[in-house]
Amino acid sequence: MSSGAVVYFKHTVVAVFAILLFYLVAFRGQQILQYIIPENSLSTRLDGSTQNEERMFTEQELLAYDGKASDLLYLVIMGQVYDVTKGIKHYGPGESYHMFIAHDASRSFVTGEFEQYSEELSDVSGLKDTELQQLLTWLEFYDKTYRYVGKLIGRYFDAHGQETSYRQHVLERAAKAKDADQEDRKYPSCNVEWKVEMGTRVWCTTRSGTGHERGWAGRPRKVIEVDGDTRSVQFCACVPDEETGTDPQYVPFPGCNETADTCIIPDQN
Ligand code: HEM
Repeated sequence: MSSGAVVYFKHTVVAVFAILLFYLVAFRGQQILQYIIPENSLSTRLDGSTQNEERMFTEQELLAYDGKASDLLYLVIMGQVYDVTKGIKHYGPGESYHMFIAHDASRSFVTGEFEQYSEELSDVSGLKDTELQQLLTWLEFYDKTYRYVGKLIGRYFDAHGQETSYRQHVLERAAKAKDADQEDRKYPSCNVEWKVEMGTRVWCTTRSGTGHERGWAGRPRKVIEVDGDTRSVQFCACVPDEETGTDPQYVPFPGCNETADTCIIPDQN
């Protein structure tokens, strides 16, 4: 190769790298940072406490993260903001759960109203205590699955990030429902987690269900409970070893060994 050709080749390589670098920094900078900065490094928990810096958003500011103004998708639940960009197939524009993006539609997590956003959807005061408990399960899901970003100023947090009395009241009602739930039950409930690639996993520990140490873990068993007059709900209970098989209402999960500590329940569709 002549020296002219070598120089030309080098310049071309440098130019291609420069263009690539510009593209990465200009358009993908924030996404790259998400890979570099570990998940949940900015985390808040259900008690509203924070470990690191967090951002406070006004409703107007949050609109910049609707997946249209930029690639980023920020979801809000009970005033807490999560970056759900990696869940674009659920939350992207036009997808089933886009309604949860860039504004607070907490109520819809329980009622399934996904069609049209309105401000009232952030108001959960009309829900039953048990439904509020269900809502908190979603909050735990986002805490575990996505990166916490900050808080939306409004119904649940003030401009300083302090929780409002409204939020405190919601948490109290949900806690009450959880306690009542456990008192009504013959056996404590299982731990539950759901992942796209796995389905639902249920398992028992010495603290599952009650949150208090009990000296035995138990085996996961399926039980069908009737909720109200018509609706039947599948539920997972931790049955102590010596009592498994004694009550026909509590049966092993299909495809899961009777003595297993953990069962995977695949999604039905
Ligand atoms: C109150 C009602 C419902 C709510 C609030 C809800 C909410 C959600 C949310 C937020 C996700 C995404 C979770 C993530 O970030 O990974 C999701 C996923 C999913 N939902 Fe729902 N959902 C509801 C009802 C339903 C119903 C009735 C069905 C079935 C007909 C369903 C089927 C699914 C499936 C299959 C996925 C996973 C999709 C996939 O991974 O490709 N959902 N749901």
